[in-house]
Amino acid sequence: MKAIIAPKYGSPDVLELRDVDKPTPKADEVLVKIHAAAVNAGDWHLLRADPFLIRLMYGLLVPKHPIIGSDMAGTVEAVGSAVTQFQVGDEVFGSELGAFAEYAAVPERRLALKPTGLSFEKAASVPVAAVTALQALRDHGQIAPGKKVLINGASGGVGTFAVQIAKAFGAEVTGVCSTGKMEMVRSIGADHVIDYTQEDFTKNGQRYDLILAANGYQPLSAYARALSPQGIYVMSGGAMVQLFEVMIWGMLKSKKGGKTFGNMTVKSSQEDLFLMKELIEAGKVVPVLDQRFPLSRVPDAIRYLEAGHAKGKVVISLDQPSA
Ligand SMILES: NC(=O)c1ccc[n+]([C@@H]2O[C@H](COP(=O)([O-])OP(=O)(O)OC[C@H]3O[C@@H](n4cnc5c(N)ncnc54)[C@H](OP(=O)(O)O)[C@@H]3O)[C@@H](O)[C@H]2O)c1
Repeated sequence: MKAIIAPKYGSPDVLELRDVDKPTPKADEVLVKIHAAAVNAGDWHLLRADPFLIRLMYGLLVPKHPIIGSDMAGTVEAVGSAVTQFQVGDEVFGSELGAFAEYAAVPERRLALKPTGLSFEKAASVPVAAVTALQALRDHGQIAPGKKVLINGASGGVGTFAVQIAKAFGAEVTGVCSTGKMEMVRSIGADHVIDYTQEDFTKNGQRYDLILAANGYQPLSAYARALSPQGIYVMSGGAMVQLFEVMIWGMLKSKKGGKTFGNMTVKSSQEDLFLMKELIEAGKVVPVLDQRFPLSRVPDAIRYLEAGHAKGKVVISLDQPSA
């Protein structure tokens, strides 16, 4: 099969399209014929071993799992002897390292049946970004109907899901993005849209019950100003300086009571894939796709995402010719 291989850590220039052996599923695994994959910031963090700690988990000198990519959607081609939830021919989506390839062997708990009627490309765009948004809003942000929620970075992969999931939970949603993306953010359901090139939401006098920092950077003191007295700030992405600020100052500030500040890391959850399937089938969430690239152009897709201005999700179509 064809796969994109990272023989060493580095920029997208190190990636190679190679012929490799098709994986054989273990007892609890499903062999997925991948029709589409999606690109996430995690892919280039892993490729570049940035931060350095990644090497402790994924290989000190070279990547232990040279096929990168994690989000995928495809068709079940074979199942291991202990698999109970899927059968050959099922259309599935999920997340497991090895997605930038024609086939992947995936533990069944990392997959769910693809939402009915959704394209493989849209389904592949869901797992990491949507589940990050869901867990940030629900588990860390304690979202509830009527709460005033602001999504900073509303136009990117995580942000476009966050806006729609927050609306599905009944919140009043404000999306922050740049001028050219305001219409799209409004079209996916945001009640209010702020153009960050024209207005600083931390200085306009509004207060929010929950701020999700999906992208972008404001100092913690500015976010604190824009929170209601019991407001919650959750950081899921953004600048490294912000992460350190949240880890250090956020913990101290939170201890004083009132407003709370924290960051989150997405956890693999089959239940959350099931919930995303339900929200999509109910028409409450519609994945927003930006560019599509064939497998051979994964390096370009990663460069494009890394530039930081995607409009929704960037996907890899395995059904496009790889020339
Ligand atoms: N915590 C976790 O477990 C987890 C999971 C997934 C992702 N992440 C992180 O979450 C972050 C976002 O991921 P993503 O997939 O959404 O990235 P993305 O798709 O690359 O985000 C791009 C979007 O960010 C917007 N943006 C850039 N600078 C901004 C600013 N100053 N203010 C507001 N918006 C801004 C861009 O809008 P404009 O073009 O209009 O500027 C663009 O639409 C990344 O840092 C990623 O590493 C974390």
